[in-house]
Amino acid sequence: MVTSLRILLLALGMGLPLWVGAALSTNGMPPEPRQRVLLDDGWRFRRGEPPHPAVMLDYDVRPALGRSEDGKDADSRPRRDPHATAHGDAGLKRWILPAANPFIADHAKHHLRPSGDPGGELPELRADFDDSDWQPVRVPHDWASAGPFLAEGPYGGMGRLSSWGVGWYRRKLDIPFEAAGRSIFLDIDGAMSYATVWLNGHLVGGWPYGYNGWRVDLSAYAQPGGDNQLAIRLDNPPESARWYPGAGLYRNVWLNFADPVHVGHWGTRLTTPQVSRETAALSLAVDIDNESAEATEVEVATAIYPLDIDGRSKATAVAHIAAQPLRIEAGSSARISGSTTLRQPMLWGPPPTQQPNRYLGVTTVSRGGRIIDRYCTPFGVRSVRFDPEQGLLVNDERVQIRGVNLHHDLGALGTAFDVQAAGRQLRRLQRMGANAVRMSHNPPAPELLELADRMGLLVLDEVFDSWQMRKTALDFHLVFDDWHEADLRAMLRRDRNHPSVVLWSIGNEVGEQYSGEDGAAIAHELVGIAHDEDPTRPVTAALNYAKPEMPLPAELDVIGLNYQGEGIRQEAEFEGTDRIRTPPQYDAFHARFPNKAILGTETASAFSSRGIYLFPVSAASSAPVRDGAGGDPLAHQVSAYELHAVDFGASADKVFAALDRHSFVAGEFVWTGFDYLGEPTPYYSSRSSYSGIIDLAGFPKDRYWLYQSRWRAQLPMAHLLPHWTWPGREGRVTPVHVFTSGDEAELFVNGVSQGRKRKQPGQYRLRWDEVRYQPGELYVRAWRDGKPWAEDRVQTTSPAVRLQLQLDPDAGEGPLAFVQVSVVDAEGRLVPTAANAIRFRLDGPASLLATDNGDPTDLSAFPSSSRTAFSGRALAIVRRAGAADASVVVHAEADGLAPAALILPAVVDPGATP
Ligand code: GAL
Repeated sequence: MVTSLRILLLALGMGLPLWVGAALSTNGMPPEPRQRVLLDDGWRFRRGEPPHPAVMLDYDVRPALGRSEDGKDADSRPRRDPHATAHGDAGLKRWILPAANPFIADHAKHHLRPSGDPGGELPELRADFDDSDWQPVRVPHDWASAGPFLAEGPYGGMGRLSSWGVGWYRRKLDIPFEAAGRSIFLDIDGAMSYATVWLNGHLVGGWPYGYNGWRVDLSAYAQPGGDNQLAIRLDNPPESARWYPGAGLYRNVWLNFADPVHVGHWGTRLTTPQVSRETAALSLAVDIDNESAEATEVEVATAIYPLDIDGRSKATAVAHIAAQPLRIEAGSSARISGSTTLRQPMLWGPPPTQQPNRYLGVTTVSRGGRIIDRYCTPFGVRSVRFDPEQGLLVNDERVQIRGVNLHHDLGALGTAFDVQAAGRQLRRLQRMGANAVRMSHNPPAPELLELADRMGLLVLDEVFDSWQMRKTALDFHLVFDDWHEADLRAMLRRDRNHPSVVLWSIGNEVGEQYSGEDGAAIAHELVGIAHDEDPTRPVTAALNYAKPEMPLPAELDVIGLNYQGEGIRQEAEFEGTDRIRTPPQYDAFHARFPNKAILGTETASAFSSRGIYLFPVSAASSAPVRDGAGGDPLAHQVSAYELHAVDFGASADKVFAALDRHSFVAGEFVWTGFDYLGEPTPYYSSRSSYSGIIDLAGFPKDRYWLYQSRWRAQLPMAHLLPHWTWPGREGRVTPVHVFTSGDEAELFVNGVSQGRKRKQPGQYRLRWDEVRYQPGELYVRAWRDGKPWAEDRVQTTSPAVRLQLQLDPDAGEGPLAFVQVSVVDAEGRLVPTAANAIRFRLDGPASLLATDNGDPTDLSAFPSSSRTAFSGRALAIVRRAGAADASVVVHAEADGLAPAALILPAVVDPGATP
């Protein structure tokens, strides 16, 4: 048993999900009592419905679509749709709804499964169906991200990729004869969307909301030792989201085997009710399901092991919750609670001032001296408190939230989850100084929270973008009434043991902000559910409209403001508009709710295109984008002087000023950390957003250094913009701005001082707006407290002569390699205007997954092996397929330039830790 436990703990340390267990352990040890098998290969996929199904296979009858509202302002008022929900009996809804039962507290509201197996006659559900002409795919899989992009039509909001429609997945399941009598579950970490699962022709269940993880019980339909044919139908509505939702089995899928008496789904709740440096009280509740036909008596015990910084378990337990007996009636569940004390606990907290130490609870369920289940709960010991005056306190230290919002796509990889790609995003953000992520506007992949735990990032976990009122014609409002409780409880149960999660959000800018008491009543219910599942964390919602005297904010534990803190549309040009106009609100909310903490759940929504500088440059420190003033109406790019924002937003500088004037505010979540697919305001012919601090390909925009200058104030740095290669601009005004963690700087053009400037209160950049361009060199020297601090220089480049390749270090070790290309001149300097067509080629066992360049307007499909450089850069994402040491060479070529080649290092550790 020790050996198999060690295998398990090692698996954890390698970043592998819990319980990646072989059915039988080596060394003659007994098998692990629970096996969890990743179903990543062996899938076949087909888009579209089979010919002539006898029944309607849709979940429900959907309202007919009217005219597309693509491109409408993000802060348009959501509305109630009288035709939203069809209440007929057509469709498979009545067979799917019972999957919600474990998450509906009131048993009287549980759903009864009707008899019959709709769809059961489809040949596609049978094991002998010939699916050889279906596409072989690997899961996680996004059926739409490969494109092509839809250049014509109103599809900008959803990323110009055809994610909507029906898709089918088939796979054989290996269910050995020995599994007879065991509980067999299929766990789906996320399927986009409206999933229906059949096993051996039987409709097992499903789940509409694409962002939640869920489980269906296969036990009754499985044929141990026989052929077991799984078929999953997904059905993505068009107009289902304001961004690219992705499509398919885009997160991991697992097959689980357990004793009929086992720890329930997400069945542990580990809290630390009292924490100090000397001691911590641990409290653990465990839910145990008895799916057998007889009542049973078990013993439940838990041992606590420290995890090292890489997530590897130490061998010796440091605390125990002693074995306790528990009786569970047949076909029911029972809860057992225990507690213990940790001496000198290693606390979890965000770097750089704290360390993300973690522990692992290993719970064993035994009967008659035999272990019948073992369940792992990784956790952290920390205290978290939101204080109305001090903001967020982690282990009694005030931690200013320096956060970003993230959507779930991974750029050119689409939404197919990849832990290395996600780790790359988080590391890039942490290097900038970010310490927090808001999972906008839906539960993330579970592995993303695991990464956040390990890296010490704080997480705001959010469940919905809409309630009963719609933002897009077929978004979550269609199923809110039936599913809100199940979806919210599912997220809470799945995520509540993660130390990174410090705050729940029940909704983003929901229409119910406008609806007075009705909206407040929904908020009241949702907050109650969150408190019920997790009494330890506060609940917020992101409010872009509700005002202090309205009923909804009063329901929240923490006030989350989108853009209202800085004020919305306060510029003179918005006078008389019928859009939302709001004076700055931090003080008003603070006065009305002196006992509630406040934070900026969304700030900025500033726009820019990496490396594109447009003239003239606004004299204001924050301005909306307009054609010719921040925006280029022909190229559809936004200026990287980093002064422009969405109409209701603000530049980074303006947000910093608002926060500095309101020290009680807990901090901000910038909209957004990375560019994302879809919602390309202000140019809806594009594929991806302009709001990222980092572009879609992962290259930082200039703003990255503006945030770094503030968020890593102790890091000596200075960053100059724009680039300095402007043939034709000689003698013309070309403003130069500097982002620095220093407080003073002197700018030189070709050695001639342009003056020394000092940041004034409320100023976050230094600007020399009268500089006239002449080729040569820009040089800045920064000081802090009168001492030399940092410098930067930018030179006019000569013509491009060659390509240069570099491995992105933030992607860590693993099968994926993110290869960055730069177009450089004879001196090796990046040519900032280069737009050469680059062709990629691989030698060795690897495939080119995608290429990108971060240009929101680039509509060439992601898998394309050629990519135009954007502002001198491009990216290739390669998956190594061979043995760890097989050599792979990436080649990049472009007409008229010397090519480049890069040998990829061996894959050291495919599950590398961040
Ligand atoms: C906010 C909204 C985000 C996004 C953003 C774009 O109002 O909450 O989801 O749409 O605007 O600027």
